[in-house]
Amino acid sequence: MRDLRHVPPRSRPASGQEQGERILAFVPVARLDEIPASRGLRVTVGGIALGLYRVGDAIHAMEDACPHAGFPLSKGRFENGVIVCSAHGLCYDVRTGFDPEHADGFPIPCFRVRVEAGSVEVDLEDRINAPRRRGPGRG
Ligand code: FES
Repeated sequence: MRDLRHVPPRSRPASGQEQGERILAFVPVARLDEIPASRGLRVTVGGIALGLYRVGDAIHAMEDACPHAGFPLSKGRFENGVIVCSAHGLCYDVRTGFDPEHADGFPIPCFRVRVEAGSVEVDLEDRINAPRRRGPGRG
C-alpha cells in the first residue's frame, strides 16, 4: 500500500490566492497506469485509506474500509464497477458508495477525482455522496 501522507498538494494555490473562496485541495495519490482494471488499488492520503478503481475510462475513489467489520474493500473481487468484500461478501458500487441492490441508506464515502498529466488526484474535501432515503410510500 502506498502512503502518500507527505505528498504536497500540487494543485493548491499559492498562499494568499483565492481569499474567501474554497481552496482547491486535489492531492496526487497515484499514477494512472498504476490502477488496474480488474481490482482496486489501496492508497493512504491524509490518514485516510482509499481504494482507487478504474471503471471504463473513469477513476473512482472510495474509502477503503468495509462498514461491516472494517475489512479493506480494495482486496475484494471487482467487476462491473462493484467491489465484493472478501470477508463476508457485502457489495458496493465504487461509483456511488452504495450497495447496488439498495439505493438508499448510508454509502461509503466517495471523493472527487481528476487526472492531470497521468497523475490521479483526489479531493478529500469534496465528498460526492451522502446518505439518502426513499420517500414515503416508495417501498
Ligand atoms: S467486513 Fe466486509 S462484509 Fe464483513
